[in-house]
Amino acid sequence: MAEGAKTTRKEAMWWTGWFCATVLLLLTLLYFYYLFPSQDLGPVQPIYFSHRVHAGVKQINCRFCHPYVERSEHAGLPEVEKCFFCHKYIIPMHPQILHEKAHLDKNLPVPWVRIYFVPDFVKFRHQPHMIAQIDCLRCHGAVPSMDRLVRVDFQMNFCITCHQEKHAQLDCYLGCHH
Ligand code: HEC
Ligand code: HEC
Ligand code: HEC
Ligand code: HEC
Repeated sequence: MAEGAKTTRKEAMWWTGWFCATVLLLLTLLYFYYLFPSQDLGPVQPIYFSHRVHAGVKQINCRFCHPYVERSEHAGLPEVEKCFFCHKYIIPMHPQILHEKAHLDKNLPVPWVRIYFVPDFVKFRHQPHMIAQIDCLRCHGAVPSMDRLVRVDFQMNFCITCHQEKHAQLDCYLGCHH
């Protein structure tokens, strides 16, 4: 009888030990999965593309790849052909470039994961901001030092604070919202 109680106690402790270990492991995994990467890395893209290499180290102008900032509602992403402006000659056999080449040959756009979007009820155009000569990095963060782009979270305050500072449109129902 006493012998039996001892083993069940031992067993209970053993299971409690495992339970705690499992919970701890899960929590650690959750931490790394959800909190850690989102602090400095954006979403994984179908083709590895680094702004740090292109806009940082090689100092390629943002507008070369996002040419519509001034003219249209959207800044635009570079089409596949644009990469081969350079990569026809630069590291053409790099595995990621071969990947991109497959898109070129099949005439398929790369399904880049979108990073920025504003809610439908907000009206945002780059143009007035370009005319006012606001730097891209003021809104998009330290793009030239990012491998995988991270979204800078725009809150209404962000728009309003600067509009106050620069005496821009503050009447938000006329200015920013549809
Ligand atoms: C204006 C020229 C230019 C354009 C346009 C360009 N690249 Fe590059 N890219 C470079 C240079 C320069 C390097 C550095 C090559 C080296 O390290 O030898 C590079 C490096 C890379 C690398 C390797 C990065 C690494 O970490 O090793 C990849 C992948 C790449 N580019 C993808 C792209 C894709 C995809 C596009 C189109 C969206 C693109 N590039 C457009 C000039 C360009
Ligand atoms: C060589 C081409 C190239 C250059 C130079 C470049 N970009 Fe990009 N950009 C891309 C590509 C390709 C993507 C889509 C993949 C990604 O998000 O990383 C992109 C995505 C972005 C996005 C996110 C778009 C979305 O999905 O919402 C922003 C913002 C951006 N770039 C800003 C900049 C800024 C600011 C600069 C200059 C400091 C710059 N880019 C320079 C090619 C380029
Ligand atoms: C005043 C803040 C601000 C400035 C300055 C700014 N952007 Fe943006 N950008 C935004 C906002 C807000 C969005 C989201 C708009 C949307 O989804 O309609 C955005 C979206 C983008 C996108 C996503 C794709 C697209 O086609 O719209 C790209 C690429 C981009 N910006 C590039 C740039 C570049 C390059 C510059 C500098 C030449 C720049 N931005 C300057 C606020 C800004
Ligand atoms: C860093 C400063 C800054 C930030 C951040 C900023 N803006 Fe602006 N915005 C300006 C300036 C400067 C103008 C031009 C005002 C002028 O020409 O009188 C402008 C103009 C505009 C206009 C055009 C108003 C008109 O007269 O047609 C709209 C709409 C607008 N901004 C919306 C936004 C939204 C939405 C955001 C947030 C996602 C935002 N802005 C963030 C500085 C900023």
